[in-house]
Amino acid sequence: AAPQSYEHIKVSTPRPGVGLVELNRPKALNALFTPLILELNTAMKAFDHDPSIGALVLTGSHKAFAAGADIKEMSTKDFADAYGADFIESWSELPNTIKKPVISAVNGHALGGGCELAMMCDVLYCSEKANFGQPEIKLGVIPGAGGSQRLTRAIGKSRAMELILTGKNFSGREAFDWGLAARVFETPEQCVDGALDTAEQIASYSRIAVKAGKEVVNKSQDLGIREGVEFERRLFHGLFGSEDQKIGMQAFAEKKKAEWKHR
Ligand code: CAA
Repeated sequence: AAPQSYEHIKVSTPRPGVGLVELNRPKALNALFTPLILELNTAMKAFDHDPSIGALVLTGSHKAFAAGADIKEMSTKDFADAYGADFIESWSELPNTIKKPVISAVNGHALGGGCELAMMCDVLYCSEKANFGQPEIKLGVIPGAGGSQRLTRAIGKSRAMELILTGKNFSGREAFDWGLAARVFETPEQCVDGALDTAEQIASYSRIAVKAGKEVVNKSQDLGIREGVEFERRLFHGLFGSEDQKIGMQAFAEKKKAEWKHR
């Protein structure tokens, strides 16, 4: 999927239909600086365009998913630098451009931009000892890659406000209890395996139906209930124009395994 070799990430296809991206900047606990983000975007887009891939997993190391935006890279910026170059806007490709589902497997530190990157993914898995937090307040700033919006939607205003204003960390177990994580695993290995299992399952379904499923769930974040339900119904109607709707429903009736056209 990725012909070029990367310096700050590792890319592989460990399961049928699954693309895995591992953040790999161990010296800085996977702190997110521009060269890493550009590689991440390139790799994610390559998988998104690769017809053999149906779902993606994003992970870091057992020690750190990512310890945040690179503080050393940021420290000398002034307002004109940040605003002029639309600093951090390049991080938006993951939620805005990638159409295939992305599961984050979070182990170790997921702080600041690391927590935000994990929350940009479509499904968040973590291990119990994962260390989440939005510590930007301690650096004299606030979250800048969607943290205040995504954390608040996921866990509610009061908790998000407390976490963002104190910079207090929270565990993988808490992330699960509060509804930020879909699943929590005992060990980092189990977490990555669990994410790969789910990605493999998603990749076994019709690509067209999966794409529509991701799109409608994401719409719920932007639209009111009435418009959202109408949007969903139109896309549902649209799927009756895909061969895979016929294939899936006929396979059920004939008690056979569906052999999807769009795979
Ligand atoms: N940026 C740059 N370098 C970082 C980094 C970061 N966010 N996090 C860790 N590193 C570097 C350290 O400077 C250190 O480098 P040196 O060996 O050259 O000194 C190396 O990674 C290892 O880190 P530590 O020695 O600190 O490791 P530790 O195990 O003692 O502590 C930690 C781990 C608690 C995660 C600590 O590194 C830490 O607090 N990191 C910063 C976390 C943070 O504040 N993140 C938010 C950034 S702001 C942001 O993300 C803005 C946004 O919304 C987009």
